[in-house]
Amino acid sequence: MCGIVGYTGPREAYPIVITGLKRLEYRGYDSTGVALLNGGLKVYKKKGRVADLEENILGKNLHCNIAIGHTRWATHGEPSDRNAHPHTSASGKLAMIHNGIIENYAQIKKELLNKGYSFTSDTDTEVLLNFIEDIRKNNDCNLEEAVRVALKRITGAYCILLIDEDDPETIIAARKGSPLVIGVGKGEHFLGSDASPMLEYTKEVVYVNDYELAIVRPNELILKNLGNEKITPFITKLDMELAAIEKGGYDHFMLKEIFEQPSTIHDCLRGRLDAAAGTITMSGVMNNIEHFKNASRIIIVACGTSWHAGLLAEYVIEELCRIPVEVEYASEFRYRNPIVNKGDIIIAISQSGETADTLVAIERAKENGAIIFGIVNVVGSSIARISDGGAYTHAGPEIGVASTKAFTGQLAVIMMMALKIAKEKGTITDDRYNKLLMELDAVPEKVDALLKSADLIKIIAEKYKGAGDALFLGRGYNFPIALEGALKLKEISYIHAEGYPAAEMKHGPIALVDENLPVVFVATKDSYHEKIVSNMQEIKARKGKIIAIITEGDDVIPGLADDVFYVPTADEIIAPLLSTIPLQLLSYYVGIAKGVDVDKPRNLAKSVTVE
Ligand code: G6P
Repeated sequence: MCGIVGYTGPREAYPIVITGLKRLEYRGYDSTGVALLNGGLKVYKKKGRVADLEENILGKNLHCNIAIGHTRWATHGEPSDRNAHPHTSASGKLAMIHNGIIENYAQIKKELLNKGYSFTSDTDTEVLLNFIEDIRKNNDCNLEEAVRVALKRITGAYCILLIDEDDPETIIAARKGSPLVIGVGKGEHFLGSDASPMLEYTKEVVYVNDYELAIVRPNELILKNLGNEKITPFITKLDMELAAIEKGGYDHFMLKEIFEQPSTIHDCLRGRLDAAAGTITMSGVMNNIEHFKNASRIIIVACGTSWHAGLLAEYVIEELCRIPVEVEYASEFRYRNPIVNKGDIIIAISQSGETADTLVAIERAKENGAIIFGIVNVVGSSIARISDGGAYTHAGPEIGVASTKAFTGQLAVIMMMALKIAKEKGTITDDRYNKLLMELDAVPEKVDALLKSADLIKIIAEKYKGAGDALFLGRGYNFPIALEGALKLKEISYIHAEGYPAAEMKHGPIALVDENLPVVFVATKDSYHEKIVSNMQEIKARKGKIIAIITEGDDVIPGLADDVFYVPTADEIIAPLLSTIPLQLLSYYVGIAKGVDVDKPRNLAKSVTVE
């Protein structure tokens, strides 16, 4: 979490940094700050959004050709002006921004306190910065060397950018565990947590790796490892346009991203699925096909919405490929000494490709000889790079904090993968395979059709916006979708919501049911239909309010539910790609009705690069 931006070159640096920070606000938005060099070091920082800082420093002399900026998601120290980054060293000469957590900061702070240092914030960042300054002073070395020595002493995760009043062209940067991209321009360099701050200036970027340190000047980019050996920067061409990270006429990124799904799912299937020819082309799967075919089990690790995609993957892969699948929360998996053997397949699912828990979980598994397969949205991200194989979801940049189009991209990839493996393994009949290919191919069109009725969800949202709690129920393939629906509502409307298997509801949540409790059933036509109708009767008998997502042509549930939303018919394996979309809309419209900033709901961040 936290977004970082830097610029050094001939242009005005402040506007580049401020615009870049606005694009990175999805990473955290509780306080903002910039440091710049114009005849001395100036630091401006404030609790609140980037726009608050901008307004606060109107009229100041912000002309400069070098600057760094930070948008924060608090870890050490509450959001406040004094805990906001950049932090300044004791001498007042160095300024630093940091994304990550220094785990052994307390020990280092103690050492510095004993030496007479004092601190103005509660952050681990200020400790690291003064540690660097102290090393520079005592060892009489340059800043680069001091950073290197300090980084070897610390444990934890970091991406840091530093500027020095006495070296007004240079930014020193380093990363371990938190992302850093350097944009290479003509006589200028850009730095960011992702490439969005530099999109309009350059398409040439360098993804900095863990334990690398960069010395960045307008005409020079030196990359080194912590052993002081030079590394040749590997330049990658960005395949992303500015329009992809703008709202394009929508009120919010979340709404734009929901409505983009016909095309993002299409982009995900394009070039892979050929329903007419009956083929699926996925080189990442084919390169590992013998491993998949012979796998005695697959372990999926993920967090948040991506974990829900993983749960659906368990259902689909077990059904189609007959391979046992375990789905793990990455944060649990990484610490609980799980059994991972050489040759085991671990699938990591992640929109950002940077989630710290998922990343570390697969690093551990890789050390044990597991084969890592990444299902990732952000091209070139850490998880994508350490995976042995994988498939991108091709959903494009997702800016809204609540994941929508990335989730349906993950589901589409999972379905294609499962079909491909099942076909290769011979665990699916040709008829079923061809039918599912046709069904998958038709999804973008069906999503487009159901989005035309989005206003009906708005009406339902108005009706239930005052609820204090909500229950989301589903069975089979729709159970993970119920979990995801509940998560979305929590994130975007702050209504407490729980997802449950519809039948399991009898063992607890049923106690909550009364005439005030909205119960959302994900009840598209599938092999569990009659069973879920019985569960609905159980809710109705206790006067719960029923909202049901159902299949067109269903003539049973409309007689039971208080509100229904129809989705087009689809095979039960494919239906989750449709049934999830009204739930995204429901949370969006309830959030809007409640006045929540849906793109930046409180306390959340899109990319969780701390554990
Ligand atoms: C955060 C985001 C969620 C996301 C989760 C996992 O909590 O707010 O939307 O599902 O991280 O992120 P990943 O990038 O690994 O999918």
